[in-house]
Amino acid sequence: MSSDISPQHKEALFLDQKLRPERWEDYIGQSHIKQNLEILLAAAKERAHPPEHLLFYGPPGLGKTTLAHLIAKETQSQMKSTSGPAIEKVGDLASILTNLNPGDILFIDEIHRLNKMVEEVLYPAMESGILDIIIGKGPSARTIQLELPPFTLIAATTRIALLSAPLRSRFSGGVFRLEFYTEAEIEEIVSRSALILGVPLASGAGHEIAMRSRFTPRTANYFLKRARDFAQVSKTSLNELAVKEALRLLEIDEIGLGQPDRHMLTILIEKFGGRPVGLGTIAAATSEEAATIEEVYEPYLLKLGLLERTPRGRIPTKRAYEHLGFDYPEALQEKLL
Ligand SMILES: Nc1ncnc2c1ncn2[C@@H]1O[C@H](COP(=O)(O)OP(=O)(O)O)[C@@H](O)[C@H]1O
Ligand SMILES: [Mg+2]
Repeated sequence: MSSDISPQHKEALFLDQKLRPERWEDYIGQSHIKQNLEILLAAAKERAHPPEHLLFYGPPGLGKTTLAHLIAKETQSQMKSTSGPAIEKVGDLASILTNLNPGDILFIDEIHRLNKMVEEVLYPAMESGILDIIIGKGPSARTIQLELPPFTLIAATTRIALLSAPLRSRFSGGVFRLEFYTEAEIEEIVSRSALILGVPLASGAGHEIAMRSRFTPRTANYFLKRARDFAQVSKTSLNELAVKEALRLLEIDEIGLGQPDRHMLTILIEKFGGRPVGLGTIAAATSEEAATIEEVYEPYLLKLGLLERTPRGRIPTKRAYEHLGFDYPEALQEKLL
């Protein structure tokens, strides 16, 4: 985890733990993934063998880590959690793997940040449960092979494109993409969260949060909490108005865009005149990390149809112009076609 973690992010992570579903019934949506996992887990149980390795990908806050926890619970396994950047050396991975007990789940978050040397050691471990260790250096070096206890690797990433094909192919249990939630699903999640936090949610408030939550449970829960704080301090009930006011203070607009989203679109429109712009150039022009743009801002803007990705770069759509109150130059459209 990076050290420059914002207070806002910290608060969201704390909420994650408190509100994380601990039963499948409470894990709303993603029914396609749930159905697949149900079969996979049942089959593994019948064979009395740990489930095969699984990879979950998609934007942050959609429920990847939660799925790993639920699988551990379902299979009554111990789960050890680590992350790509935390496994710096081959030796780190070797010690994690040799400390597994039979049937354990190893959860590796941000697996796209695993370094190449570590990745090479992971392949045989995933494929045949073997750990290759090189002892010595130069001509006298030799490899010994350790047999590992059967285990399940569950990995998560926000950036599937950065994963090498060989690594991806070793997730024999499946590679699953988490989808954005529907408004109705987010409303259900928010109602449950309100119950856990012990705040009565007035009618309309859940809906208002859902519409602006970027179809993302983590964001919805975070907004719920901020709206509750607002209602508490201003001594009102947690109603639609409280949500609107709380989100106005956070500069979240009625379709869930925050200041950075609007800034990025505005730059694409004003500075680049709506022409295709590469990711690196956008990053430089907005002073945002390319990774953040790609993982956090872009998926939602694409989903809303405010941004398009073309081979030549990103372009703001007519909708983006309209949403931000710019006139759309029809001549531009003809030029882009
Ligand atoms: N399907 C879901 N149903 C209910 N709550 C969810 C669901 N997915 C995520 N959440 C909520 O959002 C939080 C963030 O989910 P998490 O699994 O940590 O996301 P990711 O690992 O994909 O970034 C969870 O702690 C939980 O409160
Ligand atoms: Mg996670």
